[in-house]
Parts: sequence; structure tokens; C-alpha cells
Amino acid sequence: MLVELKVNGEPRSADVPPETTLLKMLREYLNLTGAKLGCDVGDCGTCTVIVDGVSVNSCLMLAARANGHEVTTIEGLANSNELHPLQEKFEEHGALQCGFCGPGMLISAKNLLDKNPDPTVFEVRDALAGNLCRCTGYTKIIEAVIDAGRVMNAEQANS
Ligand code: FES
Ligand code: FES
Repeated sequence: MLVELKVNGEPRSADVPPETTLLKMLREYLNLTGAKLGCDVGDCGTCTVIVDGVSVNSCLMLAARANGHEVTTIEGLANSNELHPLQEKFEEHGALQCGFCGPGMLISAKNLLDKNPDPTVFEVRDALAGNLCRCTGYTKIIEAVIDAGRVMNAEQANS
């Protein structure tokens, strides 16, 4: 079946079997390999993407259900010239080690900061609750997200 999406602001489409997940469509049909396949059952969050403003596990969503909707993947985070504040702050805080959780963590954090650029620690924890990290202990990730929110607030105030 033909599935048509708006991905990172661009119209994209592919003819996929009906049982194709959104993750598979992104990775194997649209060559967007940033979202990762981890557990494949909704537990780890490394496949997270944003669909119409909601963070979803793309391993659990059929591509057909996303037909006609807006999808943001990790590839849509930075613009071509500069890193997103989240990427800068994750690097600065050493918030990633192996990096496997990174795409899901960053996109979940983006979804939070787009709505609430001044989150509390509790709100960050809540927003990232579906994203597992086996390396960092989460503290540096939470600090990086809060710090990135400060940068985004400052940028907004100066614009
Ligand atoms: Fe989707 Fe783990 S691969 S939640
Ligand atoms: Fe390794 Fe998070 S940095 S799982």
C-alpha cells in the first residue's frame, strides 16, 4: 500500500506491505536510519519518533496508521549548518556513551522542550520515562536537557 508522510518537513512516500511498521518504513524504505531497532516490543525507546507532536515507539506503529501525518525523526533535529542545542548539551555534559539510546532520548527531549523549554527534573524524567539507557545513569542526560532548555529560552528571548 502507498503510505504518504511528511517527514522532517518534506513529503515522503513508499509502497510498503500492510504489516510494515513505521520504523521499518523509515529505515528500509526512506533510508532514515537514525531511529534504531532495539527491543522491537515497545520497551527500550530507541525507535522513538514524533508523530503529530506525540512521541511514539515507531516499532509498534504501523506505517499505514501514520499515513497523512507529520513525522519528525532524529535526522530532523539539526539544521544543515548547526547542531540543535540538545545535541550540543548532550556532548558538553557527556550525556551519551555507547549512543544506542541517543536517537530516542534526543527526540523525546526535543518533544518536551518544544512544549516546555523550562522543565523541572521531574518533568524531564517523566518525558524520558520510555527511553532506557544502560550506560549513563540518566543524571547527565537530565542535566543536558535542562541546560538545552535554558539555551532555547535565551535564543527565543533574543529573537
Ligand atoms: Fe521500539 Fe525498543 S525498538 S521500543
Ligand atoms: Fe549507552 Fe544510553 S549511552 S544506552
